[in-house]
Amino acid sequence: MSADIPFDREKAREFTQNAVGDLAGTMAILMCAIGDRLGLFKTLERKGPATSAGLATLAGIDERYAREWLSAMACAGYLDYHPESAEFSLPPEHAALLAQEGGRLFLGGMYQMVTATLPHLEDVIQAFQHGGGVRQSDYGAGFWQGLERYTCTKFENLMLQQWLPSVPEIQSSLEQGMEAADIGCGAGRAIIKLAQSFPKSRFVGYDVYVPSISTASANAGDANVADRVSFQIWDGSQDLPGSYDLITTFDVVHDSARPLELLSSIRRALRPGGAYLVLEVNSAEKLEDNIGPLGAIKMGLSVMYCMTTSLAADGDGLGTVGLPEPKLLDLCTRAGFSSVTKAWEDPFHALYQVLP
Ligand SMILES: C[S@@+](CC[C@H](N)C(=O)[O-])C[C@H]1O[C@@H](n2cnc3c(N)ncnc32)[C@H](O)[C@@H]1O
Repeated sequence: MSADIPFDREKAREFTQNAVGDLAGTMAILMCAIGDRLGLFKTLERKGPATSAGLATLAGIDERYAREWLSAMACAGYLDYHPESAEFSLPPEHAALLAQEGGRLFLGGMYQMVTATLPHLEDVIQAFQHGGGVRQSDYGAGFWQGLERYTCTKFENLMLQQWLPSVPEIQSSLEQGMEAADIGCGAGRAIIKLAQSFPKSRFVGYDVYVPSISTASANAGDANVADRVSFQIWDGSQDLPGSYDLITTFDVVHDSARPLELLSSIRRALRPGGAYLVLEVNSAEKLEDNIGPLGAIKMGLSVMYCMTTSLAADGDGLGTVGLPEPKLLDLCTRAGFSSVTKAWEDPFHALYQVLP
């Protein structure tokens, strides 16, 4: 220990508590990922309190594992334990986060996505030592499914309810009918939802990642909107194959290898009077203003995916918190846009309307 930094016993006690809490949290997340994957939270919500034998029967799992999982979740405070009946229950106050797929607060997709990065921990460590990164294509189907389940909670609960009302001109153009493109569309959930809500508009989704385009096309078919929504493999940092009244990116620019080129091609593809709507991670310019639990989540995701996949493509590696408003404004200005206006925000995301 450095001789000139005094040792604060209270600070040491607090930090020990925090570090043990984080370790407990890590274990809880692993247990949550198991519970999510096997539908255990959903079973408890649907069927009510259960013993380990009861849950094992209901969920078709081994009783010994059911007992350990239920006990772990009770110790973590996720489930209530009732000693008199040896039953475990999911408190109704916890159900929205753990059991209600697609709901605003549902975290199952995040559990799936975060734990799907674990097989790549050693690759990330190698990148720390030797440079480069982990390629997007190295992440397995579980990661992409988790991402889709996580981001669609926003498209289902915020896009029509809060995002579009914050940009009323875009909302009314969508109602009247327009042509829109979503770059980095992933599984396509955003424009599928828009197509369902604005039947006079037409949409195209572009993504560089081939499997996402197959998933998105299948999702559009399942949603019966394939006549108004199409998907194409395309690197958005290359000139787009069409021009549009509206272009959107949802959680894409900070991930992209070449953000300036991406914004520039979006600018060139906008028709006169068009608009660009960009959802980005809400972050502060200075590290000291990002410090806290949300900053820790964003930074961890950055190392485990966002920055690392961009660096793997020899990209800028902006990272999850690498695009605060001033940086977006700078890049958009250099790409030829004239204004960037924040229309909506919550602690995790900010929505900007960007005009040519
Ligand atoms: C975090 S995901 C978000 C996906 C989707 N927008 C959503 O919210 O569910 C970022 C997506 O951007 C795509 N992407 C990154 N850079 C891209 C580029 N230059 N052109 C097209 N897609 C890109 C990735 O393949 C990935 O699907």
